[in-house]
Amino acid sequence: MCGIVGAVAQRNIVSVLIEGLRRLEYRGYDSCGVAVLAGGEPKRARSVARVADLDEQVCETRLEGVTGIAHTRWATHGAPVTDNAHPIFSRNELAIVHNGIIENYETLREMLRGKGYEFISQTDTEVIAHLIHSLYHGDLFAAVREATGHLHGAYAIAVLHKSQPHTVVGARQGSPLVVGLGEGENFLASDALALAGSTDRFMFLEEGDVCELTLEKVRVFDRDGKPAERDVRQVAAYGGAVELGPYRHFMQKEIFEQPRAISDTIPQSDVFDASLFGEGAAKAFEEIDSLLVLACGTSYYSGLTAKYWLESIAKIPTQVEIASEYRYRDSVPNPKSLVVVISQSGETADTIAALKHAQSLGHTHTLAVCNVATSAMVRMTELSFLTHAGREIGVASTKAFTTQLVALFVLAATLGKLRGHISAKQEADYIRQLRHLPAALNSVLALEPQIIAWSEEFSRKENALFLGRGLHYPIALEGALKLKEISYIHAEAYPAGELKHGPLALVTEAMPVVTVAPNDALLEKLKSNIQEVRARGGQLYVFADADTKILNDEGLHVIRMPEHYGLLSPILHVVPLQLLAYHTACSRGTDVDKPRNLAKSVTVE
Ligand code: G6P
Repeated sequence: MCGIVGAVAQRNIVSVLIEGLRRLEYRGYDSCGVAVLAGGEPKRARSVARVADLDEQVCETRLEGVTGIAHTRWATHGAPVTDNAHPIFSRNELAIVHNGIIENYETLREMLRGKGYEFISQTDTEVIAHLIHSLYHGDLFAAVREATGHLHGAYAIAVLHKSQPHTVVGARQGSPLVVGLGEGENFLASDALALAGSTDRFMFLEEGDVCELTLEKVRVFDRDGKPAERDVRQVAAYGGAVELGPYRHFMQKEIFEQPRAISDTIPQSDVFDASLFGEGAAKAFEEIDSLLVLACGTSYYSGLTAKYWLESIAKIPTQVEIASEYRYRDSVPNPKSLVVVISQSGETADTIAALKHAQSLGHTHTLAVCNVATSAMVRMTELSFLTHAGREIGVASTKAFTTQLVALFVLAATLGKLRGHISAKQEADYIRQLRHLPAALNSVLALEPQIIAWSEEFSRKENALFLGRGLHYPIALEGALKLKEISYIHAEAYPAGELKHGPLALVTEAMPVVTVAPNDALLEKLKSNIQEVRARGGQLYVFADADTKILNDEGLHVIRMPEHYGLLSPILHVVPLQLLAYHTACSRGTDVDKPRNLAKSVTVE
């Protein structure tokens, strides 16, 4: 989703801004642009193609400047056309880039029209540009602070004005923004990653902060308009751009990285201990009587899977809710419930808002399961568990999901142990099974050639149904989500027992039915569901554990999973579904890593 980069320096910073945009490309965008102060005027280049195209434009036009801002846009208000691409200007004097949505833009637009401002774009951003311009009396920092008082909604912005050639002002409310500190130069970006190579010292702005960057100084005012100090943190872990290596797409690379990612996420310790979740976890875990899990997208499905583990291993009541629903409904708060947010990025706007909502309702015990140590969610929660998936570039989440599952299994086992529900022998068994997971995953990945053969069939279909039961119902949901996200085939998932309550009506030869069939307590029930589909001429594609005795037959295609993995089986069973979606998308020739209309990091509501 939208990304921001800004810089104030004594050297030409266009290449820094373009490199920053390149590093933000993974978030997903549909247009991009850069503006600098050149010869006392703001000058810009914008593109509805890729950052590479923008780079060509700035080279051809020799766009240069020491102060500038840049943006990747994911359209919300107004189509992805050049006029709507950021930076947006106000009267050729002020330039702004914006991430977020301004909810009262219509009222503000009318007010500004009344003051004689002309609107060229369809964006809500142009309202902010003109608003700040109308409040500017020689001090951009003051004008932005005043303007933010009139904005409703979420935003991160970076602004420059031609009368202050060495100043960039930023502000954030609901969308991330970090300040990068250099020597005689300073930077602004949506995340620290964008500034790798330029600095490793960062200030993470807080909600409502407005900052002013000049060559030598960074000033921050908090939401109450008071000068504020923000800690400077060294973030050295951000290396260079991630390489694709021998893989065709990042998604494929990330699927194959899962054994490594999981191995890095499994705790080193031979016991499940509360300290894995941070200081104070032991006390917090003692005080809770239930869990409330909040997340979006794929992360929500890892929460759904975890519910089975938490209730079966730790015997703790667990409620899992889509963050965007929870934040707007009247719920019955239970301060003894541990609020768990799950997120790859730690910056998803709806999950952050749901967390804040829970906190405002009196929930004090909060835990983030997250892949980014410096993210807003990790900073906002009492406890955290970091997954070590490494950077995930493909919009469709894969290794982040399986590492979240590992983290949540560890949580269930830790709570189970603290509550006296697992024995020392059981604990040792779980640890052993976790440690063997990377090897087991490698055998699942070896199924790729068989899955490629199936994907050719799937690529000719327009619909697919996914079935699972129990622990594997969320895995069926995740399989269907993967297929629709990247191949654009309509896919739905059902708990197999629900088949006869509706979806069976859809079953014909044209409808492939993918079934996740582990050898668990529900196997016999699932076999009956399989027969219900076969009896109606449906084509079944079953991922079955080796010992299930489900055999290839007319209308029944089976791929054998190498081994049965008990409670941890969802972590293995999701992998062939990821591969099926990936290869089907490849056969259909879609843009696998950047599927249409989707973004990696959804930082607006
Ligand atoms: C977007 C991504 C999904 C992801 C979801 C939640 O929709 O495309 O892959 O699952 O956001 O993101 P999070 O970073 O909070 O896990």
